[in-house]
Amino acid sequence: MEKLTPLFTLRDVGVALNGKQILSALDLEIMKNRATFVMGRSGAGKTTLLRVFNRLNDCFPGCTTTGEVQLHRDHGVVRPYSGEIPLPELRRLVGMVFQHPNVLPMSIRNNIVMPLATVHGVNRADAMDAASQALKEAQLWDEVRDRLDTDARTLSGGQQQRLCLARTLAMKPSVLLLDEPTSSLDHKAAKGIEELLETLKGRYTLVVVSHSLDFALRLADDIIVLREGQTYRHLLPQAIKGESGTILAELEAMY
Ligand SMILES: Nc1ncnc2c1ncn2[C@@H]1O[C@H](COP(=O)(O)OP(=O)(O)O)[C@@H](O)[C@H]1O
Ligand SMILES: [Mg+2]
Repeated sequence: MEKLTPLFTLRDVGVALNGKQILSALDLEIMKNRATFVMGRSGAGKTTLLRVFNRLNDCFPGCTTTGEVQLHRDHGVVRPYSGEIPLPELRRLVGMVFQHPNVLPMSIRNNIVMPLATVHGVNRADAMDAASQALKEAQLWDEVRDRLDTDARTLSGGQQQRLCLARTLAMKPSVLLLDEPTSSLDHKAAKGIEELLETLKGRYTLVVVSHSLDFALRLADDIIVLREGQTYRHLLPQAIKGESGTILAELEAMY
């Protein structure tokens, strides 16, 4: 069996906002090329945990992150909160897809080309290539290839979410954070995103916040359950199924 190696290690991590402790005493590892699900009730701190990985909590005034966060790279460990990796590089490596698709008010093509060209200095021809590649990987290419210059806001919700995923994939991230990526979509579009994530599993490190226990049991290699800002359980789905159904029952009661 392939050896598991961590991509992120968190030791005694806490996040406080204006003195209020949102997350505390988190010790966990996110394994490379695995799918880790983060579950728990609304307000448990799931989104805040995702924002620890790309330092997005720093965007909120009065927010402090304590403890140690390690990012394991090929040439060794860096600590993002000690300034050992430039923020733009961290944000490129740690891609995030939000609950509501946040397409840019511009063409489908430019949603991918513009960030690559202006933020990352990729030349336009290479950015165009990267865009078509990413649209194919996000299974949107066949639906948009004939209208790449159309405003992205004309796409359906599911298509917009796949475009956001394509935009993130085009950055060649090491990890994809997905915050309830299907919750704003209808059933059919949500299924489409779930199937797409299944195709990415094993090739990317995925950290997925989801309320769907079915989906988690199908896709997750690991499940972190948060309760009131603390790690309540950290399990493999097999362990959930195996423990005489008790944990499963607890999780079901949560949703
Ligand atoms: N920017 C913010 N300002 C004030 N409170 C916040 C902010 N972000 C999160 N919180 C609070 O932190 C707690 C955890 O929020 P969140 O991480 O969004 O939970 P979840 O994603 O599990 O629903 C909640 O009590 C929420 O109200
Ligand atoms: Mg949330």
